[in-house]
Amino acid sequence: MTDTYTQFVNSAFGKQVAGRLGMPRPAALRRYVPGAALIDGPVLVGGHGGGPLAKRITALLGHAGVTVVDELPAGGTVSGVVVDLSAARTPADLETLRALVGPALKVLAPSGRVIVVGASPDEAADDVPLAAVRRSLEGIVRSVAKELRKGATANLVLVRRGGEDNIDATIRFFLSGRSAYVDGQGVEVGPIEAGAAVDAADWDRPLAGKVAVVTGAARGIGASIADVLARDGATIVCVDIPAAGEALAKVANRNGGSTLQLDVTAPDAGARIVEHARTRHGQLDIVVHNAGITRDKLLANTDADRWKSVVDVNLMSVLRMNETILAPGALADGGHVVCVSSMSGIAGNRGQSNYAASKAGLIGLVHALGASADLHHRGITVNAVAPGFIETEMTGKIPLATREMGRRVNSLAQGGLPVDVAETIAWFAQDANAGVTGQVVRVCGQSILGA
Ligand SMILES: NC(=O)c1ccc[n+]([C@@H]2O[C@H](COP(=O)([O-])OP(=O)(O)OC[C@H]3O[C@@H](n4cnc5c(N)ncnc54)[C@H](O)[C@@H]3O)[C@@H](O)[C@H]2O)c1
Repeated sequence: MTDTYTQFVNSAFGKQVAGRLGMPRPAALRRYVPGAALIDGPVLVGGHGGGPLAKRITALLGHAGVTVVDELPAGGTVSGVVVDLSAARTPADLETLRALVGPALKVLAPSGRVIVVGASPDEAADDVPLAAVRRSLEGIVRSVAKELRKGATANLVLVRRGGEDNIDATIRFFLSGRSAYVDGQGVEVGPIEAGAAVDAADWDRPLAGKVAVVTGAARGIGASIADVLARDGATIVCVDIPAAGEALAKVANRNGGSTLQLDVTAPDAGARIVEHARTRHGQLDIVVHNAGITRDKLLANTDADRWKSVVDVNLMSVLRMNETILAPGALADGGHVVCVSSMSGIAGNRGQSNYAASKAGLIGLVHALGASADLHHRGITVNAVAPGFIETEMTGKIPLATREMGRRVNSLAQGGLPVDVAETIAWFAQDANAGVTGQVVRVCGQSILGA
């Protein structure tokens, strides 16, 4: 459910009232529905220097049943624009982007998509103009995302050398309703081990045959992650503390999964997860570290217990569990680990130094494991989502004025839903996404906090 204000101004009566009074009208976002078209309406695809990746993108969109155009339809709209700047050599080449994307923004349909594809700036250190133009793309995307209206988003796909053939799952994610609340973000796609899959057998059930563990699955975002991973075909192991046993069983039952009552801070938590998944379901392919707590206080008033409990649950437990989960023979080769960080871990938040420490720590963990040659060799990816303001029981308890502020200060002028976080995690968990590792994607509607 979106917030009451957004629902009201999108009702027939509310639209009239909002229009007359000049009230802001956050759009109803296009969200993913299994079986629905990837995106309705034509998508304009172009690029600089022939757009070396535009050809691949045109083919994958055609395969997905999307109408691809190379110029704006006279008098019509487009639902998306994908522009390939991977061959840009100097900032002068950015004119290609302006000339293609600028006019398209005037006819972009509601919940439209702008995707800019570029090459990684990190791989241009010895060529200064090249490094400059590659980095420019981030500035453009972040600005365009702030200019878009009616639920449209803009995101950036940066391709590392050798990752050119691995972009399909990412392009599909950003075009689809799965990325409804991901805006102004950049993702790097890199090379994968030879033989790994970059195409899903069924894009509506990309996790079919996989076994996924979700911690903190009894409620909130964790319950939604379990629902979405199960919808995408995975068998789910729902983990939560014994006190949440009843709610946990409900989530597992509705998804045909199993439950594991477990405090993630237990020294043997990782071993019990691996053992449960392998004995009950025969394998372990995906682990989502979602369990988390807050114990907010200004640092000056934070005692050792508040400090320790948050760091233990949110960070230490993940480090400890990963030692077992990532040991050879536990998580399957080609498996995926996804951590749930937070915007607090990027921007910091008053009264949350313990929480921000733990969530920033997860980002450090993801960067380190994403760079691990051993995990790369085993085809294992490790990524994180960093949610912004998400409509949950937790945020429902925030005083109204602060809550309103939290949910409006982003480019989509609304809070996200647990399903938005879950969809991003499900995308990270796809085998076809094997080229994406060590990445942190904010699911925050391009919140201005920490932008
Ligand atoms: N709600 C938001 O806006 C938001 C924003 C950013 C990040 N997050 C993160 O998303 C995750 C889920 O948040 P939520 O809003 O759904 O919270 P929530 O409090 O509704 O759910 C958290 C779940 O984790 C479980 N849990 C807590 N400690 C545990 C432990 N030691 N072992 C096992 N399970 C444990 C709880 O029982 C609960 O079911 C958390 O990591 C949170 O920090 C939430």
